[in-house]
Amino acid sequence: MNIQENQPDIAIRTVSLNLWYGQFQALFDVNLEIKQGIITSMIGPSGCGKSTVLRSVDRINERLGYVRITGAINVLDKNIYDVDVDLAQLRKQVGMVFQRPNPLPISIYDNVIFGHRIHRPPGSKLHRDEEDGIVEAALRRVLLWDKVKDKLQRKATLDLSLEERQKLCIARLLPVKPAVLLMDEPCSALDPKGTAAVEDLIWELRGEYSILLVTHNMAQARRTSDECVFMLMGRVMEHSKTDDMFVTPTRRETADYIEGRYG
Ligand SMILES: Nc1ncnc2c1ncn2[C@@H]1O[C@H](COP(=O)(O)OP(=O)(O)OP(=O)(O)O)[C@@H](O)[C@H]1O
Ligand SMILES: [Mg+2]
Repeated sequence: MNIQENQPDIAIRTVSLNLWYGQFQALFDVNLEIKQGIITSMIGPSGCGKSTVLRSVDRINERLGYVRITGAINVLDKNIYDVDVDLAQLRKQVGMVFQRPNPLPISIYDNVIFGHRIHRPPGSKLHRDEEDGIVEAALRRVLLWDKVKDKLQRKATLDLSLEERQKLCIARLLPVKPAVLLMDEPCSALDPKGTAAVEDLIWELRGEYSILLVTHNMAQARRTSDECVFMLMGRVMEHSKTDDMFVTPTRRETADYIEGRYG
């Protein structure tokens, strides 16, 4: 694991987080501790607030003028809502993967190096072969290199499968070395083979990144996560080791959900 000794072992900590969309309260007193270096899944019925939590952690919710938040969210012990927080710096630390793979309509190569170029200090420029190395390492990491190495200059939106596009969307986050990867149902647009491949990849990244993975797929949560958070109607109902949650849930609501009685 490449976790440095002086870093806290909690990647994301929310403290009494409440969130309103206009008059509608979507999150109630959410207290979460997402550990570093492991995979935490987040499950719960549609509308319970899973995406809202993720969108709060990289502060994309606030683009909507009518969102109000109270409480705190710490990423690596820094409150991301402090006035001195630089959003560009935050986005470097926190990478987000969405349901629909959304590569930019530029080449595969440029997709992977894009974030790295943006986040470089002004005026600094890397040699082409340094950039080549970064692109190759990221694509190897997501198990895509052999598939695309001969077409790096092809447009990423042209002839990649959905699975390959989603891997590319993960690859393009890696060169800026994010501490946290947020994934909002990253496999829901994929077929079973693509889902298995992306799950394998997420598991590969375990240890090196702290991953918070929203999924509707109970089997996926069970297969791919160390810990699991169950949310219901804007509240965290239960957070425990995944095996414990699925074998001996402590709350009736959790048991009902994982047994498929609602949601
Ligand atoms: N931009 C928005 N404006 C107003 N209300 C919203 C907005 N986004 C989400 N909501 C509401 O907030 C609640 C939580 O939504 P959220 O998208 O976080 O749920 P979710 O758990 O991710 O659901 P799903 O499993 O369907 O993706 C829902 O009642 C939803 O209707
Ligand atoms: Mg959602």
